Amino acid sequence: MLKIAVLVSGGGTNLQAILDAIDSGKITNAEVKIVISNNPNAYALKRAENHEIEAVCISPKQFGNREEFHKALLEKLLESKVDLVVLAGFLVAIPPAIVDAFPNKIINIHPSLIPSFCGVGYYGLHVHEAALKRGVKVTGATVHFVDKGTDTGPIILQKAVKIEPDDTPESLQRSVMEKAEWKILPKAINLIANDKITVTDGIVTVND
Ligand code: GAR
Repeated sequence: MLKIAVLVSGGGTNLQAILDAIDSGKITNAEVKIVISNNPNAYALKRAENHEIEAVCISPKQFGNREEFHKALLEKLLESKVDLVVLAGFLVAIPPAIVDAFPNKIINIHPSLIPSFCGVGYYGLHVHEAALKRGVKVTGATVHFVDKGTDTGPIILQKAVKIEPDDTPESLQRSVMEKAEWKILPKAINLIANDKITVTDGIVTVND
């Protein structure tokens, strides 16, 4: 049974998609052991509590400096003995020490087709604003392993979403979530939980 930590910062709709997929059997051999938020007001924490899952806030504001915050986060992950860390709208850059402690064991959902509209500064609504500003006709979402760069790790799954002429950043965000994120994130977790993923020289092969 794959033990998962889900790291969140906001609404937690991707967390909800994971919990629903476990409950409905779309994800097998996996359980969410802990949900960690950097934001005490994240609704995602409430979603975890509703599901009787340990929900903790580890905020940078509780610590004297960034290093201590990172150390507390790493300690909590190690103490929880999780096999996989899922970044589901976690808006904190993962420090190298955590990447080293979980090699190819951290995955992230990003709301664009990487390598478009990703990297430093591209998160949440900003990603969709940039896609609309550039005038692309297709966008989507990507699930990837986390390495020491920003959105540079091996790509696991991607799903494209058509942009409509009247889309706003908000409508596009919702559409990418519904049509791509809530599908490919649970799917990637199920593949990992069932040993269907290998990574060779930075390239993911899905053995489904
Ligand atoms: C999602 O759209 C996710 O892809 C994005 O934040 C949102 C979180 O929503 N993540 C990033 O932009 C990471 N770079 P949620 O809290 O409802 O799951």
